[in-house]
Amino acid sequence: MQIKTAEFVKSSQKWQECPEPNLPEYAFIGRSNVGKSSLINAMMNHKDLAKTSQTPGKTQLINHFLVNENWYLTDLPGYGYAKVSKSLRKDFEKLITNYILNRKNLVNLFVLVDIRHTPQKIDLEFMQWCGESGVPFSIVFTKADKLKPGAAEKNVGIYKNDLLQTWEELPDLYITSAEKKTGGDLILDYIQKTNDF
Ligand code: GTP
Ligand code: MG
Repeated sequence: MQIKTAEFVKSSQKWQECPEPNLPEYAFIGRSNVGKSSLINAMMNHKDLAKTSQTPGKTQLINHFLVNENWYLTDLPGYGYAKVSKSLRKDFEKLITNYILNRKNLVNLFVLVDIRHTPQKIDLEFMQWCGESGVPFSIVFTKADKLKPGAAEKNVGIYKNDLLQTWEELPDLYITSAEKKTGGDLILDYIQKTNDF
């Protein structure tokens, strides 16, 4: 898919404040600092459409971007950020789960995980919750440029084996680098395929 236009629509504090659910929507989620906002910018060919930061916890609201005037891309706050207070972390969790469960036009979630790490409990638990809640998701490995190609494949293999301990089928997997602008095209192809443009 070619990106002709990508524009910021609004930031919402809760799902009820999100734009009218009249277009198909795809959301990026994952731990703080995993690279959600950076990958959105890379895919949209835009330097700072979504705000990025070296400090985890940058994105604290639900951010909607309108792409090619016919679908929404959503940047969600990261989950599991240890440095905020427990009650604030609970608030974020509620914001995210309420958004996911109530957003009627949400087609797919992209769960981002850092390709350098072994499967983390919090990510696996989140995917488990998606499965139990009937929420479709794909896994997006980020920061592939930080590993040598062989090492990246190896880590993905470890991840797959881990998932197959509890899942009968693997979700779609994507290997990306926002830095090198790789992998995002396959995500866009998937979006095009699952959408009635
Ligand atoms: P929160 O909004 O805090 O949840 O973080 P986020 O997931 O949106 O992460 P963000 O895109 O802000 O990126 C976090 C840090 O990782 C920044 O310093 C980015 O420059 C860096 N980063 C993101 N993607 C990549 C990548 O593909 N390669 C490399 N080398 N660095 C990346
Ligand atoms: Mg962010």
